[in-house]
Amino acid sequence: MDLNNVNVEEIVRQVLLSMEGKGQGAAVQPASGTASAAGGAKPVPKTARVAMLTALEHYDIKEFPIPEVGDDDILVKVEGCGICGTDAHEFKRDPFGLIPVALGHEGTGEIVRMGKNVKKDSAGKDLHIGDKVVTCMIFKDNPDITMFDLNKQNVGGADVYGLLPDDDIHLNGWFSDYIFIRGGSTVFNVSDLDLYSRILIEPCAVLIHAVERAKSTGILRFNSRVAVQGCGPIGLICIAILRTMGIQNIIAVDGEQKRLDFAKQLGASGTVNFKEFKGIEALTEGVKAAFGGYLADFAFQCTGSPAGHSNIYKFIRNGGGLCELGFFINGGDATINPHFDICSKEITTVGSWVYTLRDYATTFDFLKSAKRIGLPMEKLITHTFPLDEINEAHKTNLAMSGLKIAIINQ
Ligand SMILES: NC(=O)c1ccc[n+]([C@@H]2O[C@H](COP(=O)([O-])OP(=O)(O)OC[C@H]3O[C@@H](n4cnc5c(N)ncnc54)[C@H](O)[C@@H]3O)[C@@H](O)[C@H]2O)c1
Ligand SMILES: [Zn+2]
Repeated sequence: MDLNNVNVEEIVRQVLLSMEGKGQGAAVQPASGTASAAGGAKPVPKTARVAMLTALEHYDIKEFPIPEVGDDDILVKVEGCGICGTDAHEFKRDPFGLIPVALGHEGTGEIVRMGKNVKKDSAGKDLHIGDKVVTCMIFKDNPDITMFDLNKQNVGGADVYGLLPDDDIHLNGWFSDYIFIRGGSTVFNVSDLDLYSRILIEPCAVLIHAVERAKSTGILRFNSRVAVQGCGPIGLICIAILRTMGIQNIIAVDGEQKRLDFAKQLGASGTVNFKEFKGIEALTEGVKAAFGGYLADFAFQCTGSPAGHSNIYKFIRNGGGLCELGFFINGGDATINPHFDICSKEITTVGSWVYTLRDYATTFDFLKSAKRIGLPMEKLITHTFPLDEINEAHKTNLAMSGLKIAIINQ
């Protein structure tokens, strides 16, 4: 290499970039350049890399300027983000017509800049540079609001990250190396959780909500026999929450032996592989045998299969309860016999859809409790990819060969 032709500025830039773990093409913003940058804050580059879904089944890594951090804003260096079923729908079909869009809502990272007015998170906890945070798709103004209400009110805007139409800032999704959190957004300080736990917060909140719905029936109790049908991430997290609550008698039902084996690690006392039974009567006997000769007091339906919905009533005793949470989107109609399945058995049924803000706070406590009692929650994240390989990550997710797939930044 002819050193005389090498621009010194370029060398400095590259050295600084390598310290930041960045690729080529970004220049470094001085630490004193933005609000609250003093106190040993790390330098941030002038630009951020954002994975934009630009076509069906295709992300491009784009580079955008990092805006000046206003008095109420927070700039977060992203550490990682889980891939959700909703991302998979967007990737395959763009049902909401959002392309080009910055996705990723199960993300977490470290505050590297914040405005002078930012003092507390949405739960009243202090916020400092260096703290680890997550955002939430629910507005803090109303802790009881659910996504159902958001849809009804057609509210959106800066508060929701990774699922709304893009704007001219672009740093709107957690599939990126920096995210720009506007003043007034819902944000939580979760520095006391490890990276994988933080990535699992959003899906865990779905199950905290479902268990709260289940408790509202008055049937789910400390010593209940509980059947959990479906051992994808949703059913598995359900089992871990029940176990953390002290429920001991949990039977997991699925057709994938590997998932059933993992269900045991997360707290199931027994498993039933439906593929080993022919017909619903035989399967019901299998579930009964797993409970030592009893039907379930309560059941959680965690598959998106209409047949799964039809079957689950048979596993529940007279006077028992059911929480149906397997249909985040329309999965078609299911056939049941209203007389035998609900009426004469006096089954109490609740539905559950996403979560409220209060469920978020409970979720943080759950993740700490799960760790304390030794449940290997981190094993739910079976595959990790760097941001550059986000297309492969999504394809792995669609192939359903793992459980939770996550983007982890270097
Ligand atoms: N209520 C909500 O807010 C909410 C939120 C997220 C996801 N969901 C829904 O929860 C469902 C599960 O999510 P996931 O990520 O765990 O999905 P997943 O596809 O990874 O897991 C589903 C599991 O169910 C098993 N299964 C399928 N049919 C079955 C049957 N008849 N009997 C027993 N097991 C059967 C599959 O083998 C699989 O392991 C999805 O349909 C999703 O839409 C709901
Ligand atoms: Zn999600």
